[in-house]
Amino acid sequence: MTTRLANRWPVYLVVSLLVVITIVFVLEFIASSQGDAAQQAQGSSHSPEQIMQLMEKGDTQRGAALVEQYGCTVCHRLGAANQNIAPPFVGVAERAASRKPTLPAEEYIYESIISPAVFVVEGYNPVMPQNYPERLTDSELGDIIAYLMSPDAN
Ligand code: HEC
Repeated sequence: MTTRLANRWPVYLVVSLLVVITIVFVLEFIASSQGDAAQQAQGSSHSPEQIMQLMEKGDTQRGAALVEQYGCTVCHRLGAANQNIAPPFVGVAERAASRKPTLPAEEYIYESIISPAVFVVEGYNPVMPQNYPERLTDSELGDIIAYLMSPDAN
């Protein structure tokens, strides 16, 4: 009896190893799928260097047309139709520089478009659409940031 048990120990060893490997595999899988979900929730994300590059390649005139095309100005324009739904684009570059002390203006504007819920300007409701990361291409994003950083923004 003792000899038979003793002979089986390699089998137990292999079975327990398989169990451990399976557990590690499942945990890895769960961790990686959660990572994907977080990535998706954030939408596209760019490094500060990439944001600078997008803006430098951006065209302010195209940006001006895009904020009309994407309906940004429906909320962001000073005047009767706006009813103070959102801060107007006039002077946005200066305000963007001071909204978050640690964030340069162009990065703040980028964050406001890509994840509007992260920082909600005081006195306003978080009604800005969350789907711009899916709708805007990188070059459109660069055009819009360039436009909002320019003195033409209104
Ligand atoms: C449905 C209305 C609405 C639309 C459409 C909209 N926004 Fe906004 N946006 C807001 C509101 C409200 C705020 C202020 C609250 C907040 O911070 O989320 C805001 C904040 C911002 C800010 C920060 C402004 C500041 O003074 O700090 C920027 C930049 C911005 N939006 C850009 C855009 C751009 C670019 C588009 C189009 C691609 C757009 N928004 C479309 C409602 C809107």
